[in-house]
Amino acid sequence: MTEAILLVGGQGTRLRPLTNHTPKPLLQVAGSSFIRHQIAKLMEAGVEHVVFATSYLAQLFEEEFKDFSHELAISYAVEEAPLGTGGAIRNAGRHLRGSADDAVLVLNGDILSGLDLRAVLDRHRERQADVTLHLTRVDDPSAFGLVPTDGDDRVLAFLEKPRTAEEIVTDQINAGCYVFRRSVLDEIPADREVSVERETFPGLVADGRRVFGHTTDDYWRDLGTPLAFVHGSADLVTGLARSPLAPRPGEALVHATAVVDPTARITGGSTIGPHAVIGARAEIHRSIVGRGVEIAEAAVVHESVVDHDSSVGAGSVLREAVVGCHTHIGAHNELPAQLRLSCGMRVPAGGLRLNATAAACSAVH
Ligand code: GDD
Ligand code: MG
Repeated sequence: MTEAILLVGGQGTRLRPLTNHTPKPLLQVAGSSFIRHQIAKLMEAGVEHVVFATSYLAQLFEEEFKDFSHELAISYAVEEAPLGTGGAIRNAGRHLRGSADDAVLVLNGDILSGLDLRAVLDRHRERQADVTLHLTRVDDPSAFGLVPTDGDDRVLAFLEKPRTAEEIVTDQINAGCYVFRRSVLDEIPADREVSVERETFPGLVADGRRVFGHTTDDYWRDLGTPLAFVHGSADLVTGLARSPLAPRPGEALVHATAVVDPTARITGGSTIGPHAVIGARAEIHRSIVGRGVEIAEAAVVHESVVDHDSSVGAGSVLREAVVGCHTHIGAHNELPAQLRLSCGMRVPAGGLRLNATAAACSAVH
């Protein structure tokens, strides 16, 4: 039996306010919650049992999957207080059904990747590894775990989130997907918080255990920041990234109940949610428009997320913005790029404009 653990207990702080009420893996990307894309990928790879390692808003995972009736068993390992990534893996391990030598997949809950899971499992078994780490190369490795390897793919070190330029010894990073020999996973201490990246992996390497890398150049993105999140969703819609739940690539994914004016332009892999209303000449590019959102005429929404039940007034411009739920932006606002608006905010019409020359001063002098 192939089993997997999904690490889904983080607070998703970099995605606030979207994660104020919804854990990161339950946010909608390309029309489904992200965790459903991951589950579909696991099932495609032959996984029969998955353990969700939950903590933040844990009960919402059970609600999301209460009617799940596919051929996949789901168990929940709930942490009262977060145990860290290593502690979460060990805690979730109590629910595994396999034997000591079996291979267990462990996945971070926010990685969109084209990795062939069967291939990494095969490599792990061939090498009789203790742990196999999926690795990828990125332009800026500083926000990740650095993992140099030797010519035989043996991991030489694990350096989580380097702080100085000298610490950046490679552009090869931990891609957030591991295969553990079950007995190795059971060695992680059970009675305290443990970081798999700062403690478990460096410890296994120092002890000379069989830790290998599996480096690929498939599509790979951590969806943990707002811009990465919108791009990940758009890439699923356009087909650049693959998911069994997003089978037909296109310019946009518009829910059947959304009402879109024929002169609106929806491009770049944007998603329009149920009951959303998009006005004339609105321009929506590489964005996620949630359930019940209204985008008025000639509004521009680029690389942004507008969460459910919010609105953007006529002619307003959003770039790389995150708009929380139930937030209303009046007409003719130009929001500074990368602005985040909390849930329930109101921006009056003409309340914000970046270009001071755009409107005459209306005050009496
Ligand atoms: N259950 C549980 N408990 N899950 C947790 C906990 C915890 O205490 N802490 C974090 N997680 C989960 C998060 O929900 C997420 O799915 C995953 O562990 C990784 O946490 P992130 O907060 O997303 O970490 P990161 O992106 O900064 O870094 C990690 O991923 C990089 C790849 O994107 C590290 O594993 C890096 O080494 C790696 O390069
Ligand atoms: Mg992450």
